[in-house]
Amino acid sequence: MNNPLKILCAILTLAVFPIYVQSQDTFNWTSIDPGDSLNWTDCFSPPLQCTRLNVPMNYSASNAGSFALALIRVPSSLNGTAAYQGPVLFNPGGLGGSGVDAMLQLGTQLATVIGPEFDIVSFDPRAQLQVMQTRHP
Ligand SMILES: *[C@@H]1O[C@H](CO)[C@@H](O)[C@H](O)[C@H]1NC(C)=O
Ligand SMILES: *[C@@H]1O[C@H](CO)[C@@H](O)[C@H](O)[C@H]1NC(C)=O
Ligand SMILES: *[C@@H]1O[C@H](CO)[C@@H](O)[C@H](O)[C@H]1NC(C)=O
Ligand SMILES: *[C@@H]1O[C@H](CO)[C@@H](O)[C@H](O)[C@H]1NC(C)=O
Repeated sequence: MNNPLKILCAILTLAVFPIYVQSQDTFNWTSIDPGDSLNWTDCFSPPLQCTRLNVPMNYSASNAGSFALALIRVPSSLNGTAAYQGPVLFNPGGLGGSGVDAMLQLGTQLATVIGPEFDIVSFDPRAQLQVMQTRHP
């Protein structure tokens, strides 16, 4: 199985090409209603798809409110075939890394490296633009 190797290569690729640039956001995230399940919709430019997921601010404190997590993916081109393998989650890591920006810049390259049988999914962690715009108490 060489999939872990492919994923390692993808991570190394991202390490070589830093992703910490300002958002080149031209998509209106608030046009997506956040939901409790993943409802993907086309965004930015094909093949990218986006969704917003309601998640608790603190899983241990139900009164701490929730916010809408911004998620983005390059869907597998083999969905619906026997070759389809499901999603691979890309966590941008670091301080200030935006998974949405990473997908905008490198999503199709990542999909090429990891393979067309996977969906490549990422998200904006901690205090990133896409999250802050959509946060609610
Ligand atoms: C973004 O979408 C929301 C909801 O549809 C709308 O109210 C808002 O005016 C839009 N913002 C822009 C800049 O188009
Ligand atoms: C999914 O999003 C579409 C618009 O992108 C909307 O029309 C539809 O009602 C949503 N479905 C659910 C289950 O929220
Ligand atoms: C989350 O909630 C728990 C229980 O109230 C609390 O102990 C913890 O400090 C909270 N975490 C954060 C990061 O606020
Ligand atoms: C795969 O196809 C199913 C059924 O059409 C759809 O619900 C799902 O969102 C698709 N997944 C991707 C990654 O395109």
